[in-house]
Amino acid sequence: MNLVLNDICIRNAVKADCRQLADWWNDGKVMAHAGFPNGVGTTAEEVAMQISAEQDGRGRTLIIEYCGNPIGEMNYHRLDGNVAEIGIKICNSDYQEKGLGRIALSMLIKELFSTGFEKIILDTNLNNERAQHVYEKLGFKKLRVNIDAWEDQLGVMQSSVDYELTPEEFCDYS
Ligand SMILES: CC(C)(COP(=O)(O)OP(=O)(O)OC[C@H]1O[C@@H](n2cnc3c(N)ncnc32)[C@H](O)[C@@H]1OP(=O)(O)O)[C@@H](O)C(=O)NCCC(=O)NCCS
Repeated sequence: MNLVLNDICIRNAVKADCRQLADWWNDGKVMAHAGFPNGVGTTAEEVAMQISAEQDGRGRTLIIEYCGNPIGEMNYHRLDGNVAEIGIKICNSDYQEKGLGRIALSMLIKELFSTGFEKIILDTNLNNERAQHVYEKLGFKKLRVNIDAWEDQLGVMQSSVDYELTPEEFCDYS
């Protein structure tokens, strides 16, 4: 995937991105929302192995670039029945809340629907009200709230919200 809109580029992660991805994923501030306040403890080599196994039709780790610089990542994975699960992290907080997240998500979602996916799902932490706000702006419908559904790295119970989006309900900000 290589999607470009003005100063935003969304492209497949390559070997040269693995150090940056490992640094982000090892950073507890970046990963706390996903349940890893101490970071995931990976290496660039492990990340390289992961992305080398990825294929376009099945799922990819993607880099979000703004003005040529990596600011975060997205990903998608094919599930059964033309359903894709997606995720996003704008890892450099200087670039959060500037309208880039909704545009980057729109670019990815538009591409996934145009390549035959019929539904997109995701989940987020119940505490992550900013993400829920952005997902709902894009047209995602809340399916359920899972109270105390999983335990984070520090043993603290966390609750999540499940969302889904169909092409008919998609509000495209790109
Ligand atoms: C969540 C994320 C993708 C959103 O992208 P973004 O570029 O920061 O968001 P945008 O600038 O497009 O929109 C932010 C919106 O959230 C709103 N917002 C901010 N804080 C909020 C809060 N606590 N509760 C509700 N809405 C909030 C803003 O007002 C704005 O909405 P508006 O335009 O209607 O006023 C991005 O912040 C991010 O990657 N965060 C870190 C990782 C993360 O949380 N990932 C999602 C995990 S599922």
